[in-house]
Amino acid sequence: MIMKNIVLTGFMGTGKTAVGHELARLLDIPLVDIDTEIEKSERMTINDIFKQRGEAGFREIETAMIKKISQREDSIISTGGGAVLKDENMEMLRKSGIILCLMALPETILQRVGSSNARPLLQGENPFLKIRELLHVRKPFYAKADIIIDTENRTPLQIAEEIIEHVRHRKHYNANDK
Ligand code: S3P
Repeated sequence: MIMKNIVLTGFMGTGKTAVGHELARLLDIPLVDIDTEIEKSERMTINDIFKQRGEAGFREIETAMIKKISQREDSIISTGGGAVLKDENMEMLRKSGIILCLMALPETILQRVGSSNARPLLQGENPFLKIRELLHVRKPFYAKADIIIDTENRTPLQIAEEIIEHVRHRKHYNANDK
C-alpha cells in the first residue's frame, strides 16, 4: 500500500489526467483531480470561474481545494497546471506525498490541448506563443517537483509504469505491497 499520495503536476496538456488514470488503475487507488473537485464544489466550469472571479479568484479556490484534498492518503492527486505557482500549495502537496512533474514540448502541448476551449489561459489569439511564455515563466516552479518525467513520444501507460518504478524507491512507499 502507498503510505502517501502520488501528486501529478505539470503544464496543461502534459497528460496528468491520462497518466493519473493509468496510475489509479495499475495501483488500484483513487484518482482525485483538483480541477474536477473544484468544478463539483463550485457547480461551475473552470472557464466560468475564470469569467466570474478572474484568475486570482480561481487561485484562491484552488488553494482551498488543495488544502482539503492533501488531507487524503493513498490517492493519485492530479493538479491544475498553475497549482505549482504558490509556495503554499507546494508545501501542502509535498507534505501529502511525492510530487511528480510531467513535461512536454510546447508543440506537443499545443497538439494535445488542440481545439479544446476548456482552458481559459489559452483562449487568446496565439495559443502557441502563450504556451511558450507560460512555460518559460513557470519553468522554475515545475522544477521544484521531486521527480521530473519527460512525456515525449511515450504513452500514458509507459509513463505511469516509469512513475511506479520511481516511487517504489522512495521512503514513503512500501514496496512489499504493490
Ligand atoms: C491552469 C490549468 C488548468 C486549470 C486552469 C488553469 C493553469 O488545468 O487549472 O485552466 O494555470 O495552467 P490543467 O492543467 O488540468 O489543464
